[in-house]
Amino acid sequence: MKTMNELGVPVPTHRAHVIRPLKEVSLEQRERALRETEYNMFSFPADLLVLDYLSDSGTTAMSDLQWAALFHGDESYGRNKGYYVLLDTIRDTFERGDQPREAIKLILSGEKDVETLMDKLYLTADEGGFVNGGQHQLSRPNAFITPQGRAAEHLLFSTIREVLDEMNGPGKEYWIPNNGHFDTTGANIAANGIEPVNMFQPGVLDPFPYEKMDRENPFKGDMDLEKLESFIVEKGRENIPVIYLTVTNNTVAGQPVSLANIKAVHGIAKKYRIPLFFDACRFAENAAFIKQFEKGYEKRSIRSIVQEMFSYADGFSISLKKDGLSNIGGGLFIRDRGDFVQRFSTKNEDVGVRLKEKQIVWFGNDSYGALSGRDIMALAVGIHEVVDETYLYGRIGQTRLLARELAAAGVPVVLPAGGHAVYIDMDRFFEGTDMRIGDFGGVGFTIELLRHYGIRACELGPFAFEWDQRNEEQRKGILNLVRFAIPRNAYSREHIDYTVAAVVELYKNRHKIPKVKITRGAELRLRHFQTGLKPVY
Ligand code: F0G
Repeated sequence: MKTMNELGVPVPTHRAHVIRPLKEVSLEQRERALRETEYNMFSFPADLLVLDYLSDSGTTAMSDLQWAALFHGDESYGRNKGYYVLLDTIRDTFERGDQPREAIKLILSGEKDVETLMDKLYLTADEGGFVNGGQHQLSRPNAFITPQGRAAEHLLFSTIREVLDEMNGPGKEYWIPNNGHFDTTGANIAANGIEPVNMFQPGVLDPFPYEKMDRENPFKGDMDLEKLESFIVEKGRENIPVIYLTVTNNTVAGQPVSLANIKAVHGIAKKYRIPLFFDACRFAENAAFIKQFEKGYEKRSIRSIVQEMFSYADGFSISLKKDGLSNIGGGLFIRDRGDFVQRFSTKNEDVGVRLKEKQIVWFGNDSYGALSGRDIMALAVGIHEVVDETYLYGRIGQTRLLARELAAAGVPVVLPAGGHAVYIDMDRFFEGTDMRIGDFGGVGFTIELLRHYGIRACELGPFAFEWDQRNEEQRKGILNLVRFAIPRNAYSREHIDYTVAAVVELYKNRHKIPKVKITRGAELRLRHFQTGLKPVY
């Protein structure tokens, strides 16, 4: 008799406990709503959709333990108990590998012994890592809770700019390289007068046989090492405040980054004494890819792989709305007395103190960072749950399933599938039709998918990345993709089946997909969130 893993179908990893019934919306009603929201995907009322692949951010269905943890939320203004729990969870996850202390259990189980609570949670004196504790977090703060990822990015990049201007005088040019800046990351860097530079690995859209998806992975999210090093030499190390590495690489079709690449980027960063930061939004999914596909890591736990990954980072910003398995949350964490602190602290001021002041001015007291106490508790549970291997393989397996079924039906998806989303290559999708890149066919596709089938996806191509506003050189960095980002723990096989049937039907009728014109706000920053559009039927 076969074992459960040999049956050839995924073993389920959860059961639904609460459901949300969907509305029956007609084609005409969706058409009216599309017209009245200027055909912009971000403006369409979510309640009228069948399926929503706009983002995997904050769209997680929480676990029963997370819902239970909400009741432990402490809404105190100063030093709520969730603050300590969350900081200990960050230490557990990013530093302690296979030896997590799980101090969260003291709270969830109602520990009453005051000495135990003080020694293990409230007065722990950690230092030297990403989260100082006790007095060290007061004199050298290095852990900053924020409402979401972009708030952490804003804190970091505005502070970098401020310090550089103080040290070198205002108005100088700086660059921040990344294996793929997410749109808000790039926008936050640019808003501070620094240039974000993408260093994708060549060959991201190269064909990959879908039969091999369970056995091999080329880690297409890796950073281009040669480009990085020659760029540092060309611009000068002093003009590159930090190097960034995004794990997984959302802009490059959600592809993972290998540990070999992380180590190599770290080597270059050390050689030129530039701090290395991670954009750690989907760190656990990245670790699952390393375990499954990188030689030498098969037998390692997810926790120990995460520990090794982050041992190479000098700091990280993170949106915990993804691999925090939470609906809200983010943070900025910086290695105590590390390269960043040394480079950006001035004679008069520790950079952590400067960051904390800014955090208080913009986001509230450091112990809640604009989150409610109950959100903090659910988040801490979510971070413990996300490193669970069974969950992760179920999660990545579902993404792979959607990619495989679309590929099997001939739809040109980017293979292998990444962790959180499936991307359709729109150049190949429209091959043989008269659709040109400036016609925004990807947007036309998303409009038709929503109009006919009530499914929302997102163009991340020439429209989102402003092809028409760019010069020839900048246009080379724009991939022509549509993304289906899968909410965590929310969809099941029937949702995948419905999606595949709808996309295949549109693919067969691709010559009928309209070109799209921008009717309002072509020059707006992050315009895909806000411009008006019109399909030309
Ligand atoms: N970095 C990456 C790689 C991201 O994917 C995101 C968000 C952020 C930073 C910003 O985090 O939303 O919490 O402020 N990505 C979402 C997405 C929005 O749909 O991919 P945030």
